[in-house]
Amino acid sequence: MSKPEAFIFDLDGVITDTAEYHYLAWKELARELGIPFSREDNERLKGVSRLASLEIILEIGNRQESFTQEEKETLAQKKNTHYVELIKQITSADILPGIKPLLADIKKAGLKIGLASASKNAPAVLTGLNLLEEFDYMADANLIANGKPDPEIFLNVAENLKVRPENCIGIEDAKAGVQAIKRAGMFAVGIGSIDQLGEADIIYASTSELSFKKIINEFC
Ligand code: BG6
Ligand code: MG
Repeated sequence: MSKPEAFIFDLDGVITDTAEYHYLAWKELARELGIPFSREDNERLKGVSRLASLEIILEIGNRQESFTQEEKETLAQKKNTHYVELIKQITSADILPGIKPLLADIKKAGLKIGLASASKNAPAVLTGLNLLEEFDYMADANLIANGKPDPEIFLNVAENLKVRPENCIGIEDAKAGVQAIKRAGMFAVGIGSIDQLGEADIIYASTSELSFKKIINEFC
């Protein structure tokens, strides 16, 4: 029988609502490029790397062939400069409901806590939230070759936490993220709608419903 050893969290949209800041920053860039970009389109960007997100936006506008690789990197950098400005306002008040009690319960039970975020801004966001100390290991997005839904980032965190993937519980708000957790052979908790996250083992509509006890009961 498997026994839970670690919880591995996504950051954006799970621990804090930076998904909204990513959306606002991409929306502004899309507006400058004359590309319509809705919240529904934004769902496709969740969990996806910066450059891959830009490609999706250009595809929506049918503009993929309009820019060189260098120009694309400049556009992605522009979005990031705006995003970094937006996240400067983050404080511990921006931790989503249910996250602090869950972290406390995980710690009390003696399990490890990891972070599997595709964001290169994850350390800055966790610092703003005053949560950096809570994590036993954080993946470095610069060192991950394959983005979600590839399981690489979740497997990297499990390896560094020195736990077996089948003993890990991953928490994600993105479809690609839930797929990455399942492909890593882990138990998946989804935050969001069943339409998007149907592959998860448990789905909560919001983080406020997260329950350590329920997750562990379902896992075991
Ligand atoms: C993920 C977000 O966590 O990080 C994506 O869900 C984002 O929306 C990705 O594009 C990369 O983030 P950053 O901060 O490195 O541009
Ligand atoms: Mg996310």
